[in-house]
Amino acid sequence: MVSNGDGNIKFKGVFKTYQLGEIKVEALRNADLEINTGEFVVILGPSGSGKTTLLNLVGGIDSVTGGELIIDGVDVAHMGKRALTEFRRTTIGFVFQFFNLIPTLTAKENVQFAVELISNHSEARALEVLEKVGLADRADHFPSQLSGGEQQRVAIARALSKNPPILLCDEPTGELDFGTGVKILELMKEINEKERRTIILVTHNTAIGDIADRVVHLRSGEISSVERVQNPISPSKLKW
Ligand SMILES: Nc1ncnc2c1ncn2[C@@H]1O[C@H](COP(=O)(O)OP(=O)(O)O)[C@@H](O)[C@H]1O
Ligand SMILES: [Mg+2]
Repeated sequence: MVSNGDGNIKFKGVFKTYQLGEIKVEALRNADLEINTGEFVVILGPSGSGKTTLLNLVGGIDSVTGGELIIDGVDVAHMGKRALTEFRRTTIGFVFQFFNLIPTLTAKENVQFAVELISNHSEARALEVLEKVGLADRADHFPSQLSGGEQQRVAIARALSKNPPILLCDEPTGELDFGTGVKILELMKEINEKERRTIILVTHNTAIGDIADRVVHLRSGEISSVERVQNPISPSKLKW
């Protein structure tokens, strides 16, 4: 199903330091973590603990300042610019808190826009992934004509359109009401289980940890603990 690599991720002593004038911010300190192909990992931590930083490093949006980050056997920390762009296109799908859809494009065009970069068959592919997230009938609607949950489904379809082995989700339910959030999490579990895509989901909502295979706790830029969830529950059983 997934063809662009196996989605295995290794952090080895990773540091990320931001330098703001005189001030140094250590957003991530000495992170060691291995995420296996097809795992569903939830990253939990308070605001400012380094969750988005960790995700952006995996996504190639930001680069490490120390250590090694190996994805599908390749050290992305030392990749050239062109290779990194190619890596982002083929290996990573991103889903954000605020959906980040282009308001002047329809649902179908938003997805197509992502696919077009790599394929000639973008319209058929866009409709295929919109169908997968249950939105085929809304393909020609603009984001403003869709609910928050529907917009997030379009964003998930966009992320899936390139068939990436890794899906990175930054607070994907942060803007959604409880019921809609649960539906989005159900879709993510399904994508993880049926298609064996690796999913890293960042949240400050501790309840969501119960649906994961493993939970990584971040505190002030450090991984404070990693726990395996014995019996991950269905998102429909969540309460918050
Ligand atoms: N581009 C940046 N420049 C400077 N500091 C940053 C930048 N991005 C994040 N930080 C800092 O790094 C720390 C971790 O931020 P972040 O990863 O966004 O945390 P979280 O997602 O857990 O809220 C915070 O102290 C934040 O202010
Ligand atoms: Mg964040």
